[in-house]
Amino acid sequence: MSQIARLLPRLTAYSQLPRLTRATLFVVVGLFCFLIGAQRALTQSAAHDPGVRSSPAGAGAPIAGLTPNQRAYFDAGLEEFSEVESVKGTVSNTGAGLGPRFNGESCAQCHAQPAAGGTSPSVNPQVAAANNQGATNQIPFFITANGPVREARFPYAADLRHPDGGVHALFTVTGRGDAVGCNLKQPNFQQAADAGNLIFRIPTPVFGGGLIEAIPDSAILAQANMQSDAKHRMGIGGRPNRSLGIGITGSPNTSGNDGTVTRFGWKAQNKSLEIFAGEAYNVEMGITNELFPNERDETPGCSFNGTPEDATNFDASGPELSSDVVRFAMFMRFLDQPQPAPPTPSTRNGAKVFQQIGCSLCHTPTFTTGQSSVGALSNIPANLFSDLLLHHMGPGLADNIVQGQAQGDEFRTAPLWGLGQRLYFLHDGRTSDLVKAILHHYGAGDHHYPDSEANAVISNFKKLSGQDQQDLLSFLRSL
Ligand code: HEC
Ligand code: HEC
Repeated sequence: MSQIARLLPRLTAYSQLPRLTRATLFVVVGLFCFLIGAQRALTQSAAHDPGVRSSPAGAGAPIAGLTPNQRAYFDAGLEEFSEVESVKGTVSNTGAGLGPRFNGESCAQCHAQPAAGGTSPSVNPQVAAANNQGATNQIPFFITANGPVREARFPYAADLRHPDGGVHALFTVTGRGDAVGCNLKQPNFQQAADAGNLIFRIPTPVFGGGLIEAIPDSAILAQANMQSDAKHRMGIGGRPNRSLGIGITGSPNTSGNDGTVTRFGWKAQNKSLEIFAGEAYNVEMGITNELFPNERDETPGCSFNGTPEDATNFDASGPELSSDVVRFAMFMRFLDQPQPAPPTPSTRNGAKVFQQIGCSLCHTPTFTTGQSSVGALSNIPANLFSDLLLHHMGPGLADNIVQGQAQGDEFRTAPLWGLGQRLYFLHDGRTSDLVKAILHHYGAGDHHYPDSEANAVISNFKKLSGQDQQDLLSFLRSL
C-alpha cells in the first residue's frame, strides 16, 4: 500500500508531461529494453545451468558381469584407492610412503564426487591435508575450502625461457610427526603466478576407465575421419574474417613407447590406467612404486622408506599379492560408466540440439569396445561423449604445456559422461557453471595459437533460442 502511495505522485507527474515527450520517452525506454534483450541473446545465454543433479550417485558401481575373482580385485582396489597414506605407515589406518612432496593423501580425496573414482568434492580435502599430523604447509592462494582440488604446473623454468611443464607438488611432509628431520620448502606459487608461469589441473573422473582402455585404436582413428565435410564447414564458418580455416581437425596423442593412441588425462597424455595409477601414486602422493621406482625429491633426511615403497607382496595371496598400483588399476578398470537420468522431452530435444549444432563433432556420443580378455568389457557401448582426440582450443584455454603430441593449446575432448553430477569444469576448474564452460570454448587466435576449433559450434550455440539452449543444458545435466 505504501509503495503504491509513493509511486502515485510520479505517475501523475508522467501523465502531466506533454504528449510528444511522453511518446519519445516511451520509444526510448522500449528501444533500450529491446537492445538489452538482443545483446543478451547474442553475447551470452538466456538459459541457465540447472545445477548438479541431486538424485543418487549415477556412478561408482562395478560393471555388470565380473567374475567373483575380478569382483574381489574391484573391492580390494576400492579399499586401497580410499586409504589415507602417511610417511612411514605408523599413523593408525594408513599405509606407508607419503611424500616427501605431495598434493593429496589418498586417491579418493581428489577422486570423490559423486563417488570414489569421481572428481573434486564440495569441500576441498587439500585444506586439511596441508596441516595433517603437524605438517607446517601454507595453503597456496588458489586452494580454497569450497573450491576445486587443484594441482599446479609451471610451464617454464625460472628463467621463463626453457620449458618445465612438470607438476610442482603443493605440500611437503616437513613438520609432520612421522617425518622428523626432513626440511623442505614449498614452491613459491605466488612468484610463479606473478610471472604468469602457473597453471592448474583438476581431477578427471575414472568411471568407465576400463571401457576407454578397451576401445580399439582403429575405432578412434576411423571416427577422426568421419563427418569430415561437416567438420571442415564448421571451421570455415567460425572464421568469417579469415581466409585460412583449420576446421575441426582433431588428432590422436600417441605413446612414445609403442606408438599407439593414448587416452587418459586432460591432454590424452597417458596410455593406460595402470601407468596413470603408477604416475599418480608418485606425483600426487609421493609414493614410489614398480612403475615409477625413484623419489621425485631425494633431499637427504627426507627418505624414510626403501624404494619402491609400493611393490608386489610376495608372501600374500589373492588381490593382496598385487601391488597397490595394480589394485588401483583393477578398481578403475572395473568401474562401470556413469548412468544417465531417464530422458524427458526436454533432454530428448537437448540431445538433438547437441548433434545439430555440432557439439557431437568432437563429443562423440558412443564408441563400442573391442573384444577384451575381460568378458564384462567386451563389445560394450561406451557413451563417453568424446572422440578421445586433441583439439586446438584457442589462447583462452591454452595452458602452454606440451605433453606428447599435445601442444600448449590442445586438449582431449573432455568426456561428458557423468557431467550431471560434476561440480567443476574445464581443465583448471575455472567455473562450475555449464554455460560458462561452453562459452569458454570460444577463442580468437593470436600470435601464439590459432582460433579455437570450436568457434563455429559455439556461435551456433549462441544463436539458439532460449528454449533450445535450456534443453541442451538439461540434456548435459542428465548425463
Ligand atoms: C591431489 C589430487 C589427486 C590425487 C591424490 C590423485 N589424483 Fe588422479 N588426477 C588428478 C588430476 C589433477 C588429474 C588430471 C591430470 C592431468 O590430466 O593433468 C587426475 C587424473 C587421473 C586419471 C586420468 C583419468 C582420465 O580419464 O583422464 C587417473 C586414471 C587417475 N587420476 C588415477 C589416480 C589414482 C589411481 C590415484 C591414487 C594413486 C590418484 N589418481 C590420485 C588429481 C589427483
Ligand atoms: C572442437 C571440439 C569441441 C567442440 C566442437 C565442443 N567441445 Fe566441449 N570440449 C572440448 C575440449 C577439448 C574440452 C576440454 C577443454 C579444457 O578443459 O580446456 C571440452 C570441454 C567441455 C565441457 C567441460 C567438461 C569438463 O569435464 O570439464 C563441456 C560441458 C563441454 N565441453 C560441452 C560442449 C558443448 C555443449 C558443445 C557444443 C555447444 C561443445 N562442448 C563443443 C572440445 C569440444
